[in-house]
Amino acid sequence: MDLRPIGVYDSGVGGLTVVREISRGLPKERVIYFGDTARVPYGDRTTGELRRFSQEIITFLKNQGSKFIIAACNTTSSQVLDDIKMRFEVPVIGVLRPGAYAASKATRVGRIGVIATIGTTRSNAYEKAIREHLPEGQVFGMACPRLVPLIEEGNLDSEETIHVLRSYLNPLVKKGIDVLILGCTHYPYLVKHIKTIVGPGVGIIDPAEETIKEVAVILKKLGLESTEKTGPYEFFVSGEPSRFMAVGEKLPGNEQIKAKQVNLSDLSFPFRIIRGGDDKLGTGVKKYDTV
Ligand code: DGL
Repeated sequence: MDLRPIGVYDSGVGGLTVVREISRGLPKERVIYFGDTARVPYGDRTTGELRRFSQEIITFLKNQGSKFIIAACNTTSSQVLDDIKMRFEVPVIGVLRPGAYAASKATRVGRIGVIATIGTTRSNAYEKAIREHLPEGQVFGMACPRLVPLIEEGNLDSEETIHVLRSYLNPLVKKGIDVLILGCTHYPYLVKHIKTIVGPGVGIIDPAEETIKEVAVILKKLGLESTEKTGPYEFFVSGEPSRFMAVGEKLPGNEQIKAKQVNLSDLSFPFRIIRGGDDKLGTGVKKYDTV
């Protein structure tokens, strides 16, 4: 039993789709959220940047008392998470593997589409993870760099957004996919339009839902599950809070959001590296405790 909150982070409003699933699936858990809105989008960032941003934010969330961290960002999960999670005492989970597993179970024809950021698509991480469960499966990736900026602006239902979505989705539909993974946590904001474009024959996998099922199992296994929600969710952003709040509240099922701003320079250091590592991260941390 552990009443401390779960820490969740993403580049912006995307990870709120994961927070929503926590509120549905783990209603006794409290959440501390960090949206890195001063540095969004993450989609085309280098692995060095993603690693540095993650370690800053995880340190912040840990210092706020988090018992468990969810990197609610596919771009991070696909490129730097295996490395990052070795570096912290607090357990860290990403969103990619649970979604890949669910898609490989859901497909009947073995043809899966993945819409994602440039970084996630380039990493082939979904393809690799799906192949572990479905070696013969065919995976069709589509990088959709225009979607995150549109969603962050709250531009969810315009002609422009629907036109852009069609240009990304129609080629995947033509490939004969029967399952589509929303491989970026921002995309569930557009799920209504996505469903209309791909049609009823294509099942939609939202990795947020799958991740929370897995989090429930892990919390139980580690004895970290909460027995009562002891306070409201807390939201922090690195940019200006008002747009984050306004867009976040457009997500159906989200509770009211009150976000506080944290200056990037105040994200605290140093953090303790618990296993291995090097000093390529530019943190100035040179001594490691190895376990
Ligand atoms: N929502 C994140 C993801 O799942 C990041 C998107 C971005 O900032 O480009 O990939």
